[in-house]
Amino acid sequence: MTTLELKNVTKRYRIRGAGDLLALDDVSFTLTSGRTLALVGQSGSGKSTIAKILTQLERATSGEILLDGAPVPRRGRALRRYRQQVRMVFQDPFASLNPYHTVRHHIERPLLLDHVVPRAEVDAEVARLLERVRLEPGSTIDRRPHELSGGQRQRVAIARALASRPSLLIADEPVSMLDVSIRLGVLNLLADLQRESNLGVLYITHDLATARHFSDEIMVLNHGVVVERGPSDDVILNPQHPYTRALRDASPDPEKHFSGSGTVTETKG
Ligand SMILES: Nc1ncnc2c1ncn2[C@@H]1O[C@H](COP(=O)(O)OP(=O)(O)OP(=O)(O)O)[C@@H](O)[C@H]1O
Ligand SMILES: [Mg+2]
Repeated sequence: MTTLELKNVTKRYRIRGAGDLLALDDVSFTLTSGRTLALVGQSGSGKSTIAKILTQLERATSGEILLDGAPVPRRGRALRRYRQQVRMVFQDPFASLNPYHTVRHHIERPLLLDHVVPRAEVDAEVARLLERVRLEPGSTIDRRPHELSGGQRQRVAIARALASRPSLLIADEPVSMLDVSIRLGVLNLLADLQRESNLGVLYITHDLATARHFSDEIMVLNHGVVVERGPSDDVILNPQHPYTRALRDASPDPEKHFSGSGTVTETKG
């Protein structure tokens, strides 16, 4: 089992001419393999800042980040090994893929850099990864991002994230830029992959309904402070913090349930 632990993490952004902005205030939580934790909170609450600190795209101002008890490396090969374990799927599949490179190139790169499989097996591994995200290798492998739909692009980004065989996946609003009609398909795919590979997933979202359906637990962030964390049903049906209640009451229908096929059924109360 892999455990990623944030301990008393604070993040201040220095704003030119305006002093400091406290984006995260004493945040502590753990993410473990095999579990999905949803991180919810309104815009500006600090969700992406947590994602960036977990993947070391940003440094915490204070506090600790521990992977299986060891401090996260700050540079070099050790940091690369850490990033092999903790991978990110970004919100925008248009911006996260390089328009000049083919699908093959995007997925090959981590395979080669991280020496995941012997060189002779790289082609087969690229095809296998595309199949895992339900893309047909023959018709996608030589395409460039602009030749794919948004959903296909996000699947490529997910395949790339899985290439280095991570234990933990940080998904920062992975479907919010996609057409509403295909969001559930991508979320169901992520859920399947999570189970198949026993991944730990941090699912960052504004959407309480999918947070509840796709996550074991929900953590609520308000102005950089974790105000609530608990089993998903408890947090939605019996929120303890007024902010969680306000979020729930403002959200379209957090008591919605999704069946595995992606159809929506209502089960109130
Ligand atoms: N690089 C930066 N420099 C200065 N301030 C920043 C920077 N990145 C984020 N912030 C500020 O930190 C706060 C938290 O931002 P963050 O992006 O983590 O929020 P979020 O919860 O992800 O919001 P959203 O739901 O809109 O994506 C915001 O007030 C934001 O303006
Ligand atoms: Mg964000």
